[in-house]
Amino acid sequence: MLVTVRELLIEAEKKQCAVGAFNVPNLESLRGVIQAAEMLEVPVIIQHAEVHENLISIEEIGPLMVDYAKRARVPVAVHLDHGSSLAECIKAIRLGFTSIMYDASLKDYETNVKETLELVKIAHSVDVSVEAELGEMTNSTIGGGEGRTSKISDFGNIDLFTNPQQAKDFIESTHIDSLAISFGTVHGKYLAEPNLDFDRIASIRSATEGIPLVMHGGSGVSKDDYRRAIEAGIRKINYYTYMNLAAGKSLKDTIEHSQNEELFFDALSLVATEAIRENIVQALKIFNLK
Ligand code: 13P
Repeated sequence: MLVTVRELLIEAEKKQCAVGAFNVPNLESLRGVIQAAEMLEVPVIIQHAEVHENLISIEEIGPLMVDYAKRARVPVAVHLDHGSSLAECIKAIRLGFTSIMYDASLKDYETNVKETLELVKIAHSVDVSVEAELGEMTNSTIGGGEGRTSKISDFGNIDLFTNPQQAKDFIESTHIDSLAISFGTVHGKYLAEPNLDFDRIASIRSATEGIPLVMHGGSGVSKDDYRRAIEAGIRKINYYTYMNLAAGKSLKDTIEHSQNEELFFDALSLVATEAIRENIVQALKIFNLK
């Protein structure tokens, strides 16, 4: 069933849990995510990151995402991740996406407000929900890179974390539905132990009267860190790198064990789908714990 992110986040708030949001740049990940959500009977968000256009274009994967969402036995929202221009966001809306992230977080604050508000007016007029980002996240040098974020040398720089008072002003000025915040997570593989600022999440939440907060760079974090982030107010967790690595590892093991046997690609495609599904099942179990 196709739904908006807004309605999933309202439900997550009631249940005090988080909705998993997974990037799906191929059929293996799209099928793996839907199968995992159906197995656990929990809602899920599937998303296309604009930086994955080099893997597959939104024109190719977008209609499939919408179709899988409509046919799923659980509520599924279809979301654009890190849209960088109004044109890309409108393209996603026209393809039937029910939610858009507009990311102007690396622009100056006034420009971020102005451009986000412009997108909100358009998206809300057709009942599409909007996520935006404030503060800067870092990009690992290994994998990830879904966001237009700052360099790994900025890792752990609290000056780049989201400012609670600015978040309050940003939400009041733009009327967004959810806010992606910077509090120590990284897009891609963690090269150092994550050191997350849970107090920052809680202060943003109290300054912004409970708007759903979004965690990017969500894969590769410990079970305890997920729990603490959710308790502090995270309601959507963006997750990709570690499900991608799980598929890679499973394929590597299969190829190594095959010795000199011939391998068929369709069998490998199923191996990858299964590895992604299992990785997501584990994540969704944690995110949906009350
Ligand atoms: P990871 O690839 O680090 O899990 O982050 C996913 C993400 O934040 C997509 O926007």
